[in-house]
Amino acid sequence: MSGAFLSDIQTLRKRAREHIAEGAVTPGYSADRGVVLKLLNEALATEIVCTLRYRRHYYMAKGIHAEGVVSEFLQHAREEQEHADQIAARIVQLGGEPDFSPDGLASRSHAEYVEGGTLEEMIKEDLVAERIAIDSYKEIILYLADHDPTTRRLMEEILAKEEEHADDLANLLEDLGHR
Ligand SMILES: [Fe+2]
Ligand SMILES: [Fe+2]
Repeated sequence: MSGAFLSDIQTLRKRAREHIAEGAVTPGYSADRGVVLKLLNEALATEIVCTLRYRRHYYMAKGIHAEGVVSEFLQHAREEQEHADQIAARIVQLGGEPDFSPDGLASRSHAEYVEGGTLEEMIKEDLVAERIAIDSYKEIILYLADHDPTTRRLMEEILAKEEEHADDLANLLEDLGHR
């Protein structure tokens, strides 16, 4: 039994008990926790800003009879909120504190809050924001690599959803051109 694994079960259990206060962060956690927490808080700010922008667009688009677009904006707003919640929960699991402060929110965020005047402008701004999120989340995923597979998997799931959002917006933009 002994020597069969890199760390035998007894050693792993003992180590887990010694560092119980550190929660999900075990000595086997090889990422730089400070960097991961900073990256996750930036991703959190990005999701909050995206939630706010989509909600603004949802309420503004409601007045201009664009049912398909309106429901898409609302759905995206809700999904960005879910992403924010998932990221905040992971930050806490890693022993950090999620930054929900409105002070500096826009500068922590990778994507921007742009109101946009016309429906087309709103969709374009949302598409730009999604593409920024896609790029920065890809970088975060590459950075995490095998050092923190749980956070990486979470960011991969979120990335897939942002790609879906970008695709939805590109289609809406195309439909708008054919009206
Ligand atoms: Fe998102
Ligand atoms: Fe998105």
